[in-house]
Amino acid sequence: MKVLDSEFAKGFLGMAENCWKMGWHERNGGNMSYRLRPEEAESVREDFYAEPKPWTPIDASIPSLAGDFFMVTGSGKFFQNTLREPEDATAIVELDDKGENYRIVWGLVNGGRPTSELPSHLLNHAVKIEATGGKNRVIYHCHPANVIALSYVLPLEDAVWSRELWDTMTECPIIFPAGVGVLEWEVPGGRAIGLKSCEKMKTYDVIIWAHHGMFCAGESFDMAFGLAHTVDKAADILVKIISMGGRKRSISSDDFRRLAKDFNVDLNEKFL
Ligand code: 13P
Ligand code: ZN
Repeated sequence: MKVLDSEFAKGFLGMAENCWKMGWHERNGGNMSYRLRPEEAESVREDFYAEPKPWTPIDASIPSLAGDFFMVTGSGKFFQNTLREPEDATAIVELDDKGENYRIVWGLVNGGRPTSELPSHLLNHAVKIEATGGKNRVIYHCHPANVIALSYVLPLEDAVWSRELWDTMTECPIIFPAGVGVLEWEVPGGRAIGLKSCEKMKTYDVIIWAHHGMFCAGESFDMAFGLAHTVDKAADILVKIISMGGRKRSISSDDFRRLAKDFNVDLNEKFL
């Protein structure tokens, strides 16, 4: 089968298109990766390059991902173009048997390399595989304006952001019951931001990268998109609340507990 006829590629490109329409991806901002199931990789293998591109260091050693295949956005590529020119803007990469090098086996037909955040994506795939018993498949990064604006105003603390975002919309604690993690400003790309994100990803599915954007994980394209959408909407409401002079009332800790009980979610008590 051709890669572009596969359900996973259609899902990937559909999500990229939706995310572009949300306004979260100016120019080449943001990136995305999807971990293929072995049978998905097998089903499109005939469409891979007869001569894959050379092995390239990941800048990290991730043995738990050895031999895995990932569909990724290309560095410097515009989300705006992913659906129109997927073979130019995206790639499938294979990891070697140590999880230390990758090679392009499909896509990026006009040259280029996977997203500069590849180390962050792969390191965090490994963390999320462990945290979800292998269910997590998508890691996604975007630049939503409301989240970035709030990172100049709110203290950069997990507790403050989690409670403030929960208390914008009743269903937020059901969508992200662990809360959100917050990282101080860090240089984009490379190991440092990836490793710091890993610490937070053990607990959370969403991380705020201060003055930069959002980094999140999901078991499917819908789950990752839905999570980013919910956090962005909560941030939008919070900007409005702050702009209108601040809260006049709140959802109480006991109300959050009642919600958690009825919806059977494990709400992070630290933030109540
Ligand atoms: P890439 O174009 O390399 O994916 O970088 C975009 C970005 O948002 C980096 O954080
Ligand atoms: Zn970015």
